[in-house]
Amino acid sequence: MRKNIVAGNWKMNTTLQEGIALAYGLQVALNEKKTNCDVIICIPFIHLASIAGIVQTVSVGAENCADKTSGAYTGEVSAAMIASTGAKYVIIGHSERRAYYGESNAILKEKTLLALANGLTPIFCIGEVLEEREAGKQNEIVKKQISESLFDLSAEDFGKIILAYEPVWAIGTGKTATVAQAQEIHAFIRQTVAGKYGKTVADNTSILYGGSCNAGNAKELFANPDVDGGLIGGASLAIDKFLPIIEAF
Ligand code: PGA
Repeated sequence: MRKNIVAGNWKMNTTLQEGIALAYGLQVALNEKKTNCDVIICIPFIHLASIAGIVQTVSVGAENCADKTSGAYTGEVSAAMIASTGAKYVIIGHSERRAYYGESNAILKEKTLLALANGLTPIFCIGEVLEEREAGKQNEIVKKQISESLFDLSAEDFGKIILAYEPVWAIGTGKTATVAQAQEIHAFIRQTVAGKYGKTVADNTSILYGGSCNAGNAKELFANPDVDGGLIGGASLAIDKFLPIIEAF
């Protein structure tokens, strides 16, 4: 069965001390609650080892990994290094990585393979930019992103992936996809997965929504039958903003 998931994406925010305080505070707040979803925080590389050691019911993930195994790639961080910190997840293909660091579908395919080979669960991001949405090309774009990066995986490996649909025009803009827009494209994504791997794999795939998701809109977005949770940027940086999103389930 697919899981309900709320995942934070801290991006390039918080010093190590601030990050530890935020993660610890979140864990303390959650200790007093019963949650109906998995909670993950995707955090800067240098925070991983420290924070993986202080949270219990919150899982930890990285925001990126290298597309190479090891060696002379100055400044890169491999999937094996991430796994060695105790992290269990890694965001792959965030639109900021695609746009600012030139990460292509082919590179993201390599990253996904390395994440899986090292036991990490990829949170694989897809989504169209505003001009593509305005031209009605969003389905074509997400299908291409999924198929070029993921459709060479075995059904077993594909079954380990979490997908995150994040319309680029909604990220950090305060503009959210409407409930209907989210459901429509999530259903299309699930149908695309079913076309390749069959209905059971598709039904078991968690598909998260991301893009200005907040306490005010999470409940109605998550109520969609094909929206299985959220990937939360800005609102994951404050406990009083992140907690109500977790409680939306
Ligand atoms: P946002 O970011 O919630 O700040 O829009 C979402 C994301 O980029 O993952």
